[in-house]
Amino acid sequence: MSCLLHAESLYGVIGHPVGHSLSPLMHNDQFQHQGMPSFYHAFDVLPQHLEEAVQGLKALGVSGFNVTVPHKIEVMQYLDGLDEEARLIGAVNTVVNEENGWIGYNTDGEGYVQSLLTKTGDMLRDADILVIGAGGAARAVISALTGHGAKRVTLTNRTFSKAEALQERLAERAGIRALPTEEAEKETSSFDIIINTTSVGMSPHTENMPWPVENLKPGCICSDLIYNPLKTKWLQEAQKAGADILNGTGMFVGQGAIAFQKWTGIHPDTERMHDVVMKQLGGN
Ligand code: ATR
Repeated sequence: MSCLLHAESLYGVIGHPVGHSLSPLMHNDQFQHQGMPSFYHAFDVLPQHLEEAVQGLKALGVSGFNVTVPHKIEVMQYLDGLDEEARLIGAVNTVVNEENGWIGYNTDGEGYVQSLLTKTGDMLRDADILVIGAGGAARAVISALTGHGAKRVTLTNRTFSKAEALQERLAERAGIRALPTEEAEKETSSFDIIINTTSVGMSPHTENMPWPVENLKPGCICSDLIYNPLKTKWLQEAQKAGADILNGTGMFVGQGAIAFQKWTGIHPDTERMHDVVMKQLGGN
C-alpha cells in the first residue's frame, strides 16, 4: 500500500447524489480519533464525468476512495485490478492505491455478514436463509454469505428472471436456489433468516413492506439493509411478531471499517464509527 501511517492522505467517495452520505462524517471522525492528519470528502460525480473523475483522483495521488451509486459497476473499467470477491459480485465500492496499481474491492457483503454474525454466530452455515431482491446489494450479500459457508440460501425477486440470472452468476458457490415470490412466501415459516436487500420500505415510502410477517419461524431473524428509517415498518411488524431484527447500520459501518483497514492498515474503532452514524441518524 502506498499510504504511510500517519502521513497526510486524502480519501473520498464518488457517487451521484452523495450529499447525504454519512461516510465523510464517519471516516473523518475516525481519522481524528486515530490521530491521523487525513481527510475524506464526498465528490458528486455525474455519470458522464466518471472516467475524468477517476483519472483525476489517480493523478492527485489520493490513497483510496469509495464508490457508490450509480458508479459501482462502471468504475471497474478504469481500475488496474480487481479482488476476487469484487469480480464475482461484479461491482466495486472500495478502491485502494496499492503498489501494483489501483485495485477494486467490494466490502459491502463482508461488512453486512460481519454485522449478521453478531446475531447468528456459527449457526449461519446451516441456517435456511431467504434473500429478497436480485440487484447489486443482493449480489454482494449472497456472495459474502456463501463465502462464510452458508449452505442454504434461497433467492427471490419481483422480477424472477433476475433471480435466476443471479443464481447462475453465483453457480460456483454451492447451495443457492431461486424461487418465485409466491412459492417462497409459502415457505416463510421455514426460514431462519430473512434479508431484505430491496429499497421497499425506504424513506419516503415508509409504509411499504418487502415481505409478510405472518407465519415467521419462531426466533427468525428479519434483517433489512435499509437504515433510513432506522426501523422500517417491516422490522417493526416483524419485531411485534416475535422476530429478532437487524437494520442496515451494521452493514454501513462494516463496509466502511473494512475499507478503512484496507487503506490505512489500522483496525478502526467500529463501536465509535457506529455511534457517530447512529447519532447522526437520530438513533441511540
Ligand atoms: P441495489 O444495487 O441497491 O441492489 P438495484 O440493482 O436497482 O439496487 O436493485 C433493486 C432491487 O430491489 C431489485 O431486486 C428490484 O426488483 P426488480 O428486479 O424486480 O426491479 C427490487 N425492488 C425495487 N423496488 C421494488 C418494489 N417496489 N417491489 C419489489 N422489489 C423491488
